[in-house]
Amino acid sequence: MRIYLDHNATTPLHPDALEAMIRVLREVPGNPSSTHHEGSEAKRVVETAREQVAALLGATPRELVFTGGATEANNLALAGLATTLHERGRHIVSTTVEHPSVEEPLRRLEAEGAEVARLGVDPEGRVDLDAVRAALRDDTALVSVIWANNETGVLQDVAALAECAHARGALLHVDATQAVGKIPVRVDEVPVDFLSTSAHKFGGPKGVGLLALRHEALPEAFVRGGPQERRLRGGTHNVAGIAGFGAAAAAAHAELDARVERYAALRDRLWVGIAEKVPDVRRNGHAEHVLPNTLNVEFCGAQGDVLLEILDLEGIAVSAGAACASGSIDPSSVLTAMGRSPEEARASLRFSVGEGNDTAQIDRVLAGLPEWVARTRPPGSVA
Ligand SMILES: Cc1ncc(COP(=O)(O)O)c(C=O)c1O
Repeated sequence: MRIYLDHNATTPLHPDALEAMIRVLREVPGNPSSTHHEGSEAKRVVETAREQVAALLGATPRELVFTGGATEANNLALAGLATTLHERGRHIVSTTVEHPSVEEPLRRLEAEGAEVARLGVDPEGRVDLDAVRAALRDDTALVSVIWANNETGVLQDVAALAECAHARGALLHVDATQAVGKIPVRVDEVPVDFLSTSAHKFGGPKGVGLLALRHEALPEAFVRGGPQERRLRGGTHNVAGIAGFGAAAAAAHAELDARVERYAALRDRLWVGIAEKVPDVRRNGHAEHVLPNTLNVEFCGAQGDVLLEILDLEGIAVSAGAACASGSIDPSSVLTAMGRSPEEARASLRFSVGEGNDTAQIDRVLAGLPEWVARTRPPGSVA
């Protein structure tokens, strides 16, 4: 049996999501935009899911715009808002540890004349709030920050960021893709203006996500060509996918506290075991302000890509950084932004636990890891 420790890349479908999707695929053939009975049934599926996801996020259903995932939601937020907030100014504040689905739209906006201030992070991966305050200007339209980093799991102080942004009349977008379903993310408690997330990071299907709109400013549509989603996202709804998103959200809502506890126990068991059994390791990222399921470790002097391969051959799936960057030999830009050298970044692996993991699996990993790590270190490098 393989051991899957890469839940930040994607998660297996939650059984409730699978069941909801199969029912819709079998029994709900209509288009939610049609006015007949079949259309109304499909629309009911979409609206029920919207209520389920809204309940998880503390949003109202009307605030949610379904998209084809968080990449699209981030593009809609950045490109779309930069257009509609043009009158406020063309200055945007973001960070050096954003996901490419934020960073690449930012680069595109710069090419079109926007000014972007990218704030660095401290060695533990956190943004300095004083630096945020100092970067904000009268013409800052938007602040865009990743809530939980996909590589390190490090959490930003989103409530404080919202306060800083609002104090200067700027709006806050957060990429909460890794946070939702793993920690409480409630827009009725933390006053973000826009929030992106994705179903497949917490038991839903791939290819479905949303942008939550908490401010009256609406982004310009990115995918055009239909009246769907308040004209903000044209195209026939992915009805089965949205049903799966709703079911995964309902499950996450019901199980969140237990998940946090279970994930943290497994993650801590893994870290304590690694620190005990493998010489010369260090944890990347803040030890407290971090997702309960994520552990990023530098095996000093080791070849991370080789270790990843050995683990895979041994039946264990982990990641050497962002899934989309794996296979590339570039060191993680998130770790280098935290001050790690390229060699240190290349010696680092991300373990992310989730549903289906148990202590026996963690212990199997710990039993083999000291030898596998030693094989990827230069002979005689570490005792
Ligand atoms: C922080 C973050 N933002 C955005 C995305 C993109 O999400 P999606 O796969 O739904 O496009 C990911 C997924 O890797 C992510 O981790």
